[in-house]
Amino acid sequence: MPTINEILNTMEYGPAPESQKEAQAWLEQKGRAFGLFIDNAWSEAGELFASNNPADGKQLAELTQATAADVDRAVRAARRAQPGWQGLGGHGRAKILYAIARLMQKHARLFAVLETLDNGKTIRETRDADLPLVARHFYYHAGWAQLQEEEFANHRPVGVVGQIVPWNFPLLMLAWKIAPALAAGNTVVFKPAEFTSLSAMLFADICVQAGVPAGVVNIVTGDGRVGEAIVNHAGIDKLAFTGSTEVGRLIRQATAGSGKKLSLELGGKSPFIVFEDADLDAAVEGLVDSIWFNQGQVCCAGSRLLVQESVEERFLAKLRARMDNLRLGSPLDKSMDIGALVDPVQRQRIHGLVESARAEGCSVYQPAGCELPADGSWFPPTLITGASTSAAVAQAEIFGPVLVAMSFRTPPEAVQLANNTVYGLASCVWTENISLALDVAPQIKAGVVWINTANQFDAACGFGGYRESGYGREGGREGMYEYLVPVSEDARPAAPVPTAPAKAKSAAPAGDVFAIDRTAKLYIGGKQARPDGAYSRAVHGADGGFLGEVGEGNRKDIRNAVEAAHKATGWTKATAHNRAQVLYYIAENLAARGGEFAARIAAMTGAGNPEKEVQASVERLFYWAAWADKYDGLAHQPPMHGITVALNEAIGVIGIVAPNENPLLGLVSLVAPAIAVGNRVVVVPSEAHPLSATDLYQVFDTSDLPDGVVNIVTGSADELARTLASHSDVDAVWRHDGSAEGCAEVERLSAASLKRTWTGGAKGRDWYSTAQAGGRAVLAHASQVKNIWIPYGV
Ligand code: NAI
Repeated sequence: MPTINEILNTMEYGPAPESQKEAQAWLEQKGRAFGLFIDNAWSEAGELFASNNPADGKQLAELTQATAADVDRAVRAARRAQPGWQGLGGHGRAKILYAIARLMQKHARLFAVLETLDNGKTIRETRDADLPLVARHFYYHAGWAQLQEEEFANHRPVGVVGQIVPWNFPLLMLAWKIAPALAAGNTVVFKPAEFTSLSAMLFADICVQAGVPAGVVNIVTGDGRVGEAIVNHAGIDKLAFTGSTEVGRLIRQATAGSGKKLSLELGGKSPFIVFEDADLDAAVEGLVDSIWFNQGQVCCAGSRLLVQESVEERFLAKLRARMDNLRLGSPLDKSMDIGALVDPVQRQRIHGLVESARAEGCSVYQPAGCELPADGSWFPPTLITGASTSAAVAQAEIFGPVLVAMSFRTPPEAVQLANNTVYGLASCVWTENISLALDVAPQIKAGVVWINTANQFDAACGFGGYRESGYGREGGREGMYEYLVPVSEDARPAAPVPTAPAKAKSAAPAGDVFAIDRTAKLYIGGKQARPDGAYSRAVHGADGGFLGEVGEGNRKDIRNAVEAAHKATGWTKATAHNRAQVLYYIAENLAARGGEFAARIAAMTGAGNPEKEVQASVERLFYWAAWADKYDGLAHQPPMHGITVALNEAIGVIGIVAPNENPLLGLVSLVAPAIAVGNRVVVVPSEAHPLSATDLYQVFDTSDLPDGVVNIVTGSADELARTLASHSDVDAVWRHDGSAEGCAEVERLSAASLKRTWTGGAKGRDWYSTAQAGGRAVLAHASQVKNIWIPYGV
């Protein structure tokens, strides 16, 4: 009796081509040459570049390479239009977003064919995945526009947004960017990728038909230079970028210190974990969707297969058999599984990586019967086995139809291998054991976990990365916050002029017999530690008198503190109730010594009413203790039989540079929310007034705070912030000491490992105000959302 695969292998498919007549007619009608779409008008075509069909290499149309002056014109148009667009109100914007959604549905087939022609992905995908998701995104965000005044009260739009997208999901990325930006009342300057701009050109027509006012959506085409012009334009308030990690890093560096809001959705090397009790056939199908969807040119592609050793052979045999049945060919043929790569450049890149694996002795499997068309850029489905964990193919984002398979023995080993990457975008877990799945999912450092499913997306479920996969989320409520600013930010005062900082590396005045007793050490891993450099710095009071000394922390001290913070993983795993309790204890113990702290603050800062600051600090600790067990996630119900659980997870280790004003309240206001949600911190207290921070050691010691959760290193704010921002094991840096240059430097240095930053720039903050120093906006800085997709009943 022949097997199913044998039967399938003998069956012939007839061609099932989708007509390209309409799409070609539309291109003809446009003269196959496009200008720029600014202020609802098309500019004359300028310097042109070609857009080719990847499936046959033939030119489809030409597009204009925008100049810096064009970008400037687009930004000005967006600026002019922004107040009117915001002023239209939620319902006014909802109507227009709804009109766009309807028009996208009406013209879905034209868009799908055009996208397939321009990108090379199969019509099955553009028709059944991209276009429905695009329409859904506009519908969903029409809804947020409608509800904005109620659900996002006390927030305003950011202003003019620059948006830059890649070529792998041209129209879907456009929708992910433009829908939330517009819903929130922003106007946009949008740049499609140079390989795939045609669906954006068609979208411009839709905007006009939908009644989008002039200047609200502006579309400029061209290569990376146009992207750079957008990034560097002073009139841009926020940048939203999807693309390579390399360019994401450049954008982070270029915008450092500019105050521009930034979200980055970057690359990935996502693990696809198959446990021995998984439904192996279903897992094979999931893998097909994971790595051969869009030829693997997907940021969240499941490109690293981790399969349990006991089923490895069986699973790989099934996989190879399935690969033999994948059909590669004309993307417009409705029965094709695999289309063309976007450009020969990508083919070359993928080929180079696969050959490097071959040279390293890996085995490379490609179906024998997979014939590649003579024209265009193609690559066969490929499976690499035998690669070491450090091989280039196991670490680099290949961005092609290439799967690298490895095995593991135990669940902890699976987690360890899954997290053995600089990225953290997505992951899949396949097992029939729900308790194993739900145990593993939170341990994977990735923004999305699909359990027994793969590559599912929905506008209601935020999407975005951990680590070098970037930050910010697209979709969901959290995606809306990327395009909004709390109005309390506009009320922030200028940073106070710094008081004379403590003099570095000085000794206590000769003859002061109490000097030795008054030297505070550092606080690392729950213990007082002498500074590595054996230097101290004198601290002077408001009246210029000598108050005491603190340790002069250096690079080594920060390293030790980060190490101690990393070890304190128990804090992140502790229950929220537990963390809340410890915060209450800290508050109680601080209150008990309130008089002492008030006297210290008065001596350092000359504050007239220091009790007020102590009282506010106690209250702030209560505030974050209250939040600790109430910052719940959400259970989304996307159009799937199942739920998506959105968890607010800790970021990891956060470096904090505390403000100089309100040295106790400022520090407490930053440390408490960070640890409330499970982070561990390394804190640099106010450089000018560090003694109320060093007095806290004893408060911590008597409050059940586990060792290493809060580490305090005194010294030069600039030097220590630099070290924190450059440290690859620090996951985020917050700097709020009013140093504009210092904040810019933190942002610039953060680019190397793409750590998250929260900086105050030259502005201060009213630390007494809950509007400015509390609320969900602060919690959002302290956490990242992980969406776990759990289908059931199937
Ligand atoms: P890319 O990151 O260079 O391009 C993405 C977008 O950024 C395009 O619109 C491009 O014009 C623009 N851009 C390029 N340089 C810029 C700059 N300096 N400033 C501002 N904008 C700039 O990606 P590319 O070259 O198309 O692909 C290279 C590799 O990047 C791929 O092989 C893949 O590994 C990765 N990639 C990842 C994507 C993802 O979704 N995570 C998407 C596209 C590429």
